[in-house]
Order: sequence, then structure tokens, then C-alpha cells
Amino acid sequence: MKILEYDEIEWQQALELNLVGFDWYLTPDLVEKILKADKRVPEGYAIYATEGKTVLGQVGILVDTVQTISGMEKLGYLWTIVTKPGSTNKGIATRLIEEAHSRLISQNVRYSFLGTQKSLVAYNLFKKLGYSDLIDHNMGLKSCSNVPPNSAEHKSTGIRLLREIRTSFDDETIMNMFSKYATGLLGFVHRPQNFLSIRKAWGWMPVNLICVFQKENESVGYLLGTKEDNSIKIRELICVNPLDLSACILAVEKELRPRYIIFDFTSRECVISKLANVGFRFIRPTYATYMIKDLTRERSIEEIRNSFSVKNDKFQMSIIDYY
Ligand SMILES: CC(C)(COP(=O)(O)OP(=O)(O)OC[C@H]1O[C@@H](n2cnc3c(N)ncnc32)[C@H](O)[C@@H]1OP(=O)(O)O)[C@@H](O)C(=O)NCCC(=O)NCCS
Repeated sequence: MKILEYDEIEWQQALELNLVGFDWYLTPDLVEKILKADKRVPEGYAIYATEGKTVLGQVGILVDTVQTISGMEKLGYLWTIVTKPGSTNKGIATRLIEEAHSRLISQNVRYSFLGTQKSLVAYNLFKKLGYSDLIDHNMGLKSCSNVPPNSAEHKSTGIRLLREIRTSFDDETIMNMFSKYATGLLGFVHRPQNFLSIRKAWGWMPVNLICVFQKENESVGYLLGTKEDNSIKIRELICVNPLDLSACILAVEKELRPRYIIFDFTSRECVISKLANVGFRFIRPTYATYMIKDLTRERSIEEIRNSFSVKNDKFQMSIIDYY
């Protein structure tokens, strides 16, 4: 078995792997776009296990930085891990993940991180390779039918939804608000200034709704999401002051009139409780989980959780941080 990179293999076999594994149409054009936009992806894009000319498996690697209580640490993100159907259970994914680990270690990366589902066979594979659950995914749902748009509750918040559906990202306004919000938090708080353009280049997460919330002409929060028929799926809702969260949701209801609002994952309990106050019900547990491994083997999972202050609700991650 040989380990090669994207431009050393037949692109169509990479596309086929991504289609069967993730229903992801990974063309050479998309790879080029991602490499151009996202400097955290290595030049070789991803690693592939090959036998002769046949591609048997893929692991993507991306190096990010996270904030911990003791400072900034490098974190390797493993994504799109897949073995060719018919070639499973022969150690291919294990070999690729071990190769990814040694590449990360050679760049002094402490953590390896990935997202998966506990219902997949992959979950056992990751546990076997030393990964532990850092934080579980959650989802919230609000049915908006009973909230009258002109209620006193709606009128009194002082929050105005400034913009509705936009096609281009206003990176700067949004990134400035994120930086203010993230001050003092840990985890995924070091976003490149062009983070939203990067996410757009990947084509995932899809975002077709961007709102900015204002209070007395000052931008106090934003929403990135998708609007489909009568529902809104929130990928990220950030308020510089989380006390404004409930009022922002009410502004969304008032202006956009969705029937349902789905909130797709927040790592922070304070956000969950504010959303519960305005009628969201959170599904917990779900199958999805985010797993981590200390490549230096120095920290146990408890120590890793402490280093991110998960218990003190300081760990920040949104679904758009997920690859
Ligand atoms: C998950 C996946 C990448 C594993 O690839 P693989 O090359 O078969 O994995 P390996 O042979 O290296 O690892 C074997 C280990 O994985 C787990 N595993 C793999 N196939 C399994 C199966 N059918 N049933 C149960 N466990 C299985 C076991 O822990 C196994 O270890 P064991 O043999 O000691 O029990 C492959 O099944 C796949 O591509 N699945 C679809 C895409 C996917 O779900 N990717 C992960 C997204 S997060």
C-alpha cells in the first residue's frame, strides 16, 4: 500500500470516494478553489491509500489553531475519512489516520480532532485509535406558529434585523462581531479574517441567509443560515452580548416569519438556555459527536476538557467550524 496525495492519483477515483462516502461532488475545480481559499489545507490537499493505480481510501488533514487556558495550540482536523466499499476492514483507514497523525506530529500539532456519528462503524475505529468524545452535537427546534408578530414582546426588545437574504458575505462586519464575542472564550475562536469566504469556497455549510442585528444603530449580532420554504436553519447565531440572543430570535420571527427555526449546534450552555427561554427545544443527546486525541499523549480527556474550560462554558464551537 502506498500513500499518495491528490495530484498523484486519478481525480475521478477521489470523486467517486467522496460521492459514495459523503455524497460530495469533489471535482478538481473544487479542490483548486479550496486550496486557493483555505491556507490551512496542505498543498497535497488530502492523503490517499493506493494499491497500484487503485485508490482505496482518503483522509483529509487541515491544521487550525485553538485557544486553551494555557495559550494557543495547534489542532489538526481530520475530515472526509473514507475507504472504498469492498475494501473495508483491511486496515486502510487505520493506516491513513496513522499517517495523518505522524504528519501532524512533525508539524508540532498537539491535538487531532474530528466529527463523527456514534451510530457509524467509524466511531469504534476512532476510539480504537485513541480518540475520545470532547463534546456532543445538539440541535434545537422552535415552532413559531404561536408567536404573534405584533406582540408587546416583539416590540419592546429594541433589536432590529437589518439585512435579510444576501448573496455575498460581509466578512468584515461579521468577523468583527465574532472577535468581540469570542474575547475570553476558548476553543475555535481564531478564525482567519476571510473565514466566511473560505467556508463559501468549500461549498459546505451552505448559507443563503445572512442577517445582521442592530440596536440603536450599532451592530450587536449576526445570523448565518439557510432559508428553505417555511423554515430557517441557523448555522451560527452570534451576539456580542449573549443577553441579546432571545431578542434576535424574536426579530427573525417578526421579519422573516418562518414556521420553524432549527438551531444546528452550539457548544455553549448559556446559548442553549437563552434559546430555551424563547421556546426552543433542544435534542440531546444526538448521535453526532466531536472527538479529540492528544497526539503527545500527555493529557487525558478530562485534562483536555479542562484545558478548554468545557465545564465553565468557555468552549466555543459552531457547526460552521466543522469540516
Ligand atoms: C469508517 C471507515 C472509514 C473504516 O474504514 P476501514 O478501512 O474499514 O477501517 P480499518 O480496517 O482501518 O479499521 C477497522 C476498525 O474499524 C471498525 N470497523 C470497520 N468496519 C467495521 C464494521 N463493518 N463493523 C464494525 N466495526 C468496523 C472496527 O473498530 C475495526 O477494528 P477491528 O477490526 O479491530 O474490530 C469505512 O467504513 C468507511 O469508509 N465508511 C463510510 C464513510 C464513513 O462513515 N466515514 C467516517 C465519517 S466520520
